[in-house]
Amino acid sequence: MADLKWGIMGCGGIAGEMAEALEKHGKKAYAVCGRTKSKAETFAMKHKIRKIYETYQEMLEDQEVDIIYIATPHGVHYENIKEALNAGKHVLCEKAITVNDHQLEEVVELAKSKDLILREAMTISHMPLFKKLKERIKEGAIGEVKMVQVNFGSNKGKDYTNRFYAMEAAGGALLDIGGYATTFARTFLDETPNTILTTMKYAPTGVDEQCGIIMKNSLEQMVVMSLTIQAKQPKRGVVTGDEGYIEVYEYPRAMKGTITNTATGEVETIEAGKTEDALLYEVEAMEGTIEGTYEDNAMEISRDVMHILSSVRNQWGMKYPFE
Ligand SMILES: NC(=O)c1ccc[n+]([C@@H]2O[C@H](COP(=O)([O-])OP(=O)(O)OC[C@H]3O[C@@H](n4cnc5c(N)ncnc54)[C@H](OP(=O)(O)O)[C@@H]3O)[C@@H](O)[C@H]2O)c1
Repeated sequence: MADLKWGIMGCGGIAGEMAEALEKHGKKAYAVCGRTKSKAETFAMKHKIRKIYETYQEMLEDQEVDIIYIATPHGVHYENIKEALNAGKHVLCEKAITVNDHQLEEVVELAKSKDLILREAMTISHMPLFKKLKERIKEGAIGEVKMVQVNFGSNKGKDYTNRFYAMEAAGGALLDIGGYATTFARTFLDETPNTILTTMKYAPTGVDEQCGIIMKNSLEQMVVMSLTIQAKQPKRGVVTGDEGYIEVYEYPRAMKGTITNTATGEVETIEAGKTEDALLYEVEAMEGTIEGTYEDNAMEISRDVMHILSSVRNQWGMKYPFE
């Protein structure tokens, strides 16, 4: 297949990182579309992108574009994904891929019906480290997986006007950072949880500021998770088995983890991939899936995760204004 051409939607922080990743690895960042013309022009010039579109529709009408990378705030992902799929484009969408599981199931069906690939740009699902750690678990490195403990704390400050606290932008800790922690946990469970307990604290704007989540699946594997956007916490994930445990720091883009054997105290260090190539792994997986040379269960994980996040929010009774 000829080189696949990417159209980037949004010109913010993560869009810039993706454009750099595409550029660095000789991929084709072909078009960009931003709602602020001057920003799109600056972005295109910086990343040597040929086509600049002022409206999303115009970029979708460009027959040259194969894949749309959506890097807008998650409150608008659902609409953006639907429009792109309906225009016949494959879609890689930033996390959180949608705001709830109903939206996600609808776009998954739409992609299937159009024979198009839809994926979430979730770094954890593509970092080589996690594949290696799972292999070591299969080989018996920690015995049977019993529990996962995972946290994520990011201090977004007290400026309640930013997107992290905005109800209309689907803000809050759960959708902004909870997807990472939940993906980490789900990656190491043999089944998705069917029992979910939670408690939380609201920010003054009505979004969730912090929460605790406890989960269990039918195999009685358990997860304990804590999230906050008002305090730093180490991004630490621990997978505990009956013979040892895995520890991973900075897990969203981790390239190193340790396995401790609890009987001997021996510590094995596992290294794979590179933090700075996190977005490249997403791009390679996306292009490989489209070309039929790569297969994974990333979308099943995204669906399970979105189902968990929705179930947590349903328990809180927290709805976004557009839901
Ligand atoms: N994978 C990762 O590591 C990672 C890291 C950070 C963020 N993310 C995810 O990526 C998404 C974007 O985050 P970001 O930090 O890049 O945000 P950002 O810097 O605020 O950029 C958002 C971009 O979307 C545009 N935009 C804002 N509201 C829009 C709307 N209603 N319709 C269309 N375009 C709109 C903005 O345009 P203007 O510039 O004109 O406002 C801007 O170009 C979020 O969903 C976030 O969760 C992922």
